[in-house]
Amino acid sequence: MNSSDVKATLSFSDGSPSMDLPLYKGSIGPDVIDIRKLYGQTGKFTYDPGFLSTASCNSTITYIDGDKGELLYRGYPIEQLAENCDFLETCHLLLYGDLPDAAQKLDFTARVSSHTMVHEQMQFFLRGFRRDAHPMAIMTGLVGALSAFYHDSTDINNPVHREIAAIRLIAKMPTLVAMAYKYTQGQPYMYPKNNLSYAANFMHMMFANPCEEYVQNDVLVRAMDRIFILHADHEQNASTSTVRLCGSSGTNPFAAIAAGVACLWGPAHGGANEAALNMLGDIQKMGGVEKIGEFIKQVKDKNSTVKLMGFGHRVYKNYDPRAKLMRETCHEVLGALGLHDDPLFKLAMALEKIALEDDYFVSRKLYPNVDFYSGIVQRAIGIPVQLFTAIFALARTVGWIAQLNEMIGDPEYKIGRPRQLYVGAQQRSVKPVGQR
Ligand code: ACO
Repeated sequence: MNSSDVKATLSFSDGSPSMDLPLYKGSIGPDVIDIRKLYGQTGKFTYDPGFLSTASCNSTITYIDGDKGELLYRGYPIEQLAENCDFLETCHLLLYGDLPDAAQKLDFTARVSSHTMVHEQMQFFLRGFRRDAHPMAIMTGLVGALSAFYHDSTDINNPVHREIAAIRLIAKMPTLVAMAYKYTQGQPYMYPKNNLSYAANFMHMMFANPCEEYVQNDVLVRAMDRIFILHADHEQNASTSTVRLCGSSGTNPFAAIAAGVACLWGPAHGGANEAALNMLGDIQKMGGVEKIGEFIKQVKDKNSTVKLMGFGHRVYKNYDPRAKLMRETCHEVLGALGLHDDPLFKLAMALEKIALEDDYFVSRKLYPNVDFYSGIVQRAIGIPVQLFTAIFALARTVGWIAQLNEMIGDPEYKIGRPRQLYVGAQQRSVKPVGQR
């Protein structure tokens, strides 16, 4: 952090002494005001529900400029990574700070590939779940359970353990997601094939069965890989902050990532792609394109809780750059599969057009986010809707683990412990039950 000559001065209208607060400059983006000494010197906390104005850490991993619609991983624009790199190169970048050279790429790919299998006992653990369990319920359990299977990489303070846990998590997530899927289908699990690319191996484990090979379609594999790249990290969002907060207690990496999976499940976060596709299905049932006007009316009604899922973002107040790339992929995939006349896709395009022109959305800077398109792409690939968020979790695992490792390596890191503005009852005495 670079301190600045400029100081912020906090003054009070009740005569309390004012306080100078240091200001730090990032390499890009807004400056931050250091309030760490605020409570000690004034006895006051800051109040910021939802952390709208609070930087919880300093980080070198991801940068978002929400007004410009810009996303950088370690300084590289997401567009260039999506065009020129594959997911494992992106993982290397996020984990170690730079893109691999040819030798590093080979080595990293070999290390990840050699960890794709999971302990054979995992399949018996899976059997405890109902066959109709939501994949995210299964994933929360499976990822947490990894700590029981891999005891030799659970010490968060040991850099070797952290490194092995990172590789294991990146390597095993596709296997676990595919196992969760096969289990709900009643199909046998497919072992990973390490001669395939990361995305192709995932599709093999999803779509092959012992009687039939998965025939690789390069457009679909590339689309899957792009979904992984676009979801790999996204700064201090809810699930990443959850992983950091959970990990700040010193818990093991598998437990911290399981907390991230649980957070991601929510419809305002990773669950939005599933929610967006379900919403399109609902409009389709209402009568399709003709009913969009009626649906938008409900969304705009202050008394209704209906939202246009896949629209809006806490940080992007411009077009989400990932949404632009996913929109492009969406066209490629539908073209390759001859699905351009797919009614749900047509509906999505009509909805997007209307929302982008409607003053309600324009004035609130509500643009489509990545989830609006990723659901359509995944559905076209043959991924069941219920599995969308699990695929997001698979892709985000590298971001979570990179952020967790960055936090542990930061000399300023402390256990996370927000404060509160207490507005409850003052101290009172318990009365005997008959007098209450
Ligand atoms: N549909 C309709 N209205 C919306 C939507 C939406 N999708 N999103 C925001 N608004 C409205 C709000 O009602 C509010 O209106 P008001 O000013 O009249 O009260 C205004 O826009 C500002 O909204 P906030 O809720 O303050 O925005 P915030 O930044 O807190 O929320 C969020 C962001 C949670 C993503 C929200 O836009 C949303 O729920 N979107 C739908 C879910 C979704 O797609 N989530 C995916 C996020 S991306 C990801 O996780 C990868």
